[in-house]
Amino acid sequence: PNSNPPRHFLSIRDLTSTEFKTLIDNATAHKKTLQSPDYKYSSWSLSRALVGQTIPMIFSKRSTRTRISTEGAVAALGGHPMFLGREDIQLGVNESLYDTSVVVSSMTAGIVARVGPHKDIADLAQNSSVPVMNGLCDTFHPMQIVADFACLSQRLGVSAGDLKGMKIAWVGDANNVLHDMCIGARKLGIEMAVATPKGYSIAEHVKTMIDEAGDGKIFETNVPEEAVKDADVIVTDTWVSMGQEEETLKRLQAFEGYEITEEMAKKGGAKSDWKFMHCLPRHKEEVSDEVFHGNRSLVFSEAQNRLWAAIAVLEAFVVNKGDIKRTEA
Ligand code: CP
Ligand code: NVA
Repeated sequence: PNSNPPRHFLSIRDLTSTEFKTLIDNATAHKKTLQSPDYKYSSWSLSRALVGQTIPMIFSKRSTRTRISTEGAVAALGGHPMFLGREDIQLGVNESLYDTSVVVSSMTAGIVARVGPHKDIADLAQNSSVPVMNGLCDTFHPMQIVADFACLSQRLGVSAGDLKGMKIAWVGDANNVLHDMCIGARKLGIEMAVATPKGYSIAEHVKTMIDEAGDGKIFETNVPEEAVKDADVIVTDTWVSMGQEEETLKRLQAFEGYEITEEMAKKGGAKSDWKFMHCLPRHKEEVSDEVFHGNRSLVFSEAQNRLWAAIAVLEAFVVNKGDIKRTEA
């Protein structure tokens, strides 16, 4: 069915450096517009962009932020978000993934999916006649990363292109969020240092993808204090991603000493005004309450940016059919 395949968004890999910067800055532009006191829904240029169109959201895992931001973004553009949880539809269950992709895409304007293996969303995209956007798979989380860099650029009051030269330290598990963050960092000229426990480092095939994304080198270590040296931002995520629940005990043991605290950052020599980020949901052990709830923490702005990022992604991939162009606030 795909003689003229649509452009999909499965990873930050799918964007050029310029496109990635544009998406980030567009998210910020949408934030400005929608939060302006003069904002009127009826006169916003995108308020009818998806009128009469459906965006199915095929989620095989739970979600707070991705679901709410995506449903909200579709609603903001005048479309109908159709949430399909595991009880409603599951890819490759009861009918082939091919049949599901062809049928679902024949009646809708774009698909947002949250799946387990990356192959599931890649296969969905392969056979879909409408854009497929990744709301998280085991390997990537691109909509999160657009929001993360939008949040950072807003905090610093600069555009995405001017984030170049900063340093981000990741202390935790080498997971989906980290993968797209490293790829995104390469496209922005941001330095990454990554601390993971032994046995939990970035897989070789993912490192190749990161290297293909742009110039740079990841500093890798098993010592959290080494990673945070000179960091502007320290980031983590859960130590037990969805689907890894059976490994919980083993992982909690392996990640002992990885809690992000004021002391750890100080000992490692992070910049004095370092900021903290976490895509959420947060679990107690990953970060101290002092850091999580303190002035350094960007987590709630980061979470709210998911909404502006989702609007920017739908605008780029569904409304503008993959032509990623700048939007003015
Ligand atoms: N950060 C994030 O994707 O959160 P949810 O799992 O709640 O969607
Ligand atoms: N790494 C986490 C991210 C959740 C938003 C997971 O995959 O469960």
